[in-house]
Amino acid sequence: MKILLSGIQPTGEIHIGNYLGALKNWLELQDKYQCHFMVADLHSITIDYNPAEYQETILNTAMDLLAIGIDPKKSILFVQSQVPQHTELCWYFNTLTPIAELERMTQFKDKASQHKENINTGLFDYPVLQAADILLYKSEVVPVGQDQLQHLELTNTIVRKFNNKFGKYYEEIKPVISEGAKIMSLTNPEKKMSKSLGANNLIALSDEPEVIRKKIMSAVTDTGPASDAMSAGVKNLFDLLKLFNATLAHQKLTSAYDNKTLKYSELKTELAEAIIKNLQPIQERKKKLLQNKKQVVKILADGAKKAGKIAGKNILEIKKKMGLL
Ligand code: TRP
Repeated sequence: MKILLSGIQPTGEIHIGNYLGALKNWLELQDKYQCHFMVADLHSITIDYNPAEYQETILNTAMDLLAIGIDPKKSILFVQSQVPQHTELCWYFNTLTPIAELERMTQFKDKASQHKENINTGLFDYPVLQAADILLYKSEVVPVGQDQLQHLELTNTIVRKFNNKFGKYYEEIKPVISEGAKIMSLTNPEKKMSKSLGANNLIALSDEPEVIRKKIMSAVTDTGPASDAMSAGVKNLFDLLKLFNATLAHQKLTSAYDNKTLKYSELKTELAEAIIKNLQPIQERKKKLLQNKKQVVKILADGAKKAGKIAGKNILEIKKKMGLL
């Protein structure tokens, strides 16, 4: 089986945009590849964070992954900082990475302009750490969102530089765009659903039914003058209805829309109930995990142990190649 790695940053609650956009795809990959799923806690400390709450946040992200169906029997689920070879390999790769390549990274430029008071070296080096995450396990398959493609290109630049300098060791990696669906913000449907747009723009996996109803009922539908084309907000609600498996309601409401008899309140009611129904099993699993945090800590420790074993072996090979052993 080919080796797969992907990561998610522990920044707050996972929402349906993350779930439908990327994480849901991870579930099927578990049977096709040797999967490594990582909570990228070292990446998230490159922007401001609260150290007092950080362990909870990391654990919560791991529990969300388990609740949606990441199966530790099939996949290695671990926390990045628990496998120290990630930072070690990052340093080695730093010596191969031209500064000019990092200066081109659009995510760095965006984040640097958003966090002007904290443009730290880690933020700049972020893509090299990501390359280390991937190549530490000699992963070949890396499912990510579109916004991460540039980082994967850099990873392949590092692969080529490494192979040229030290002899062939790595295969170039294959980015798998795992963008299932682009879910838009409920309050600002021209933009992607995102934590940065506030709690009302998203449905968190853990939102209670009442909260889901309230947020969907107040979702933006049409803004500006009426036009014939379906507005971004309405389209988003229809998309969600389909993605949450309400096929019949989707058909019925689409005809109503075509006949110009659709009531948005009906669309919203159907959608809210579909979301509630689909999230229910996830929420139940999450509740059980929350009551059993020790078990989650153990799963992560086991994951780190498994990952660490592979990492430890590979890092020795890398050090030999580099003349460090
Ligand atoms: N940077 C990725 C993101 O924000 C998360 C990540 C960290 C990652 N390391 C990775 C993704 C390695 C894929 C492979 O989405």
